[in-house]
Amino acid sequence: MLKAGLLVGRERSFPDALILEINNRDAGVTAEYIKVGEISSAAPCPYRVIVDRISHEVVFYQPYLKAAALSGTVVINNPFWRLADDKFFGTALVERLGIRVPKTLILPSRDYPEDVISETLSNLKSPLDWQAIAAYTGLPAILKPHWGGGWKDVHAVGSLEELLAVYNRTGRLCMMLQEFIQWEQYVRCLCVGKTNILITNWDPRKPHFERYRDVDQALDPSLVERIRADAIKINEALGYDMNTVEFAVRDGVPFAIDFMNSAPDFDISSLTERYFPWVVSAMADLVIERAKRASESQIAYRWDALLNS
Ligand SMILES: Nc1ncnc2c1ncn2[C@@H]1O[C@H](COP(=O)(O)OP(=O)(O)O)[C@@H](O)[C@H]1O
Ligand SMILES: [Mg+2]
Repeated sequence: MLKAGLLVGRERSFPDALILEINNRDAGVTAEYIKVGEISSAAPCPYRVIVDRISHEVVFYQPYLKAAALSGTVVINNPFWRLADDKFFGTALVERLGIRVPKTLILPSRDYPEDVISETLSNLKSPLDWQAIAAYTGLPAILKPHWGGGWKDVHAVGSLEELLAVYNRTGRLCMMLQEFIQWEQYVRCLCVGKTNILITNWDPRKPHFERYRDVDQALDPSLVERIRADAIKINEALGYDMNTVEFAVRDGVPFAIDFMNSAPDFDISSLTERYFPWVVSAMADLVIERAKRASESQIAYRWDALLNS
């Protein structure tokens, strides 16, 4: 029997439902929660597939998952890319792929650890030209970390004074400044296996648990097709098999806003009964399919040829 393992944080509704769904399908794959302590560098991983929902918060899981990938396990999402990725690179990449993005700048951090002295920073321009920075994105703008999630340290700034005041409180974070897209429609795409896309109505103005609720908006069919195609292109470019991709629609044009959610919120209390069953079923399909053809679906790593020679 092929095994799939789940690494999770405090969430329960999604992983419980996914394990039940995979096991109930009786498709030659069983799923369970992983239990792991110390592991040796030579140990083979017993799982054909691991669904990683939490390695961003538990550092030990990062080397564990990379070693699992080395022993042939398919890790969803790719444990190497997940750490290497950042929102600024992602924005630059998808822009080059022809997807519209807000005008975006990355800024040097405000603060550094104490042992970083001014000589260490001699390559950095100082002071920054805040007039030019604000002129590029326009105001209001969004100041947000280049790596992050859950709206942590995301700020809307309406004036140059506010921009400076907020930046001065960002400490060692590396911040992006982004044109604020004044949207008339907003969607969040639930993405499984790169190409399986469910476009949901989602309202970021509402409180967290209300965002998927009672939001109905008519989307033009051509807009739906563009959003779907852009979401697929983003997932394929970034390599995510489990993701959410948000678009703000301005003047009928979708702008990609947040598309780097490698452990998206799949809780039933957020997704509601309307979207939760789709996610569970699509993820079960993906895990079973990847477990069955693990060797072909494996991403080619640089060392594969050496290991197989
Ligand atoms: N450039 C932008 N224009 C308009 N709204 C934005 C922009 N950037 C972020 N937002 C809003 O702020 C929310 C949080 O920002 P996001 O980039 O998703 O950060 P996080 O990764 O922390 O969730 C988004 O869901 C969106 O509603
Ligand atoms: Mg977000």
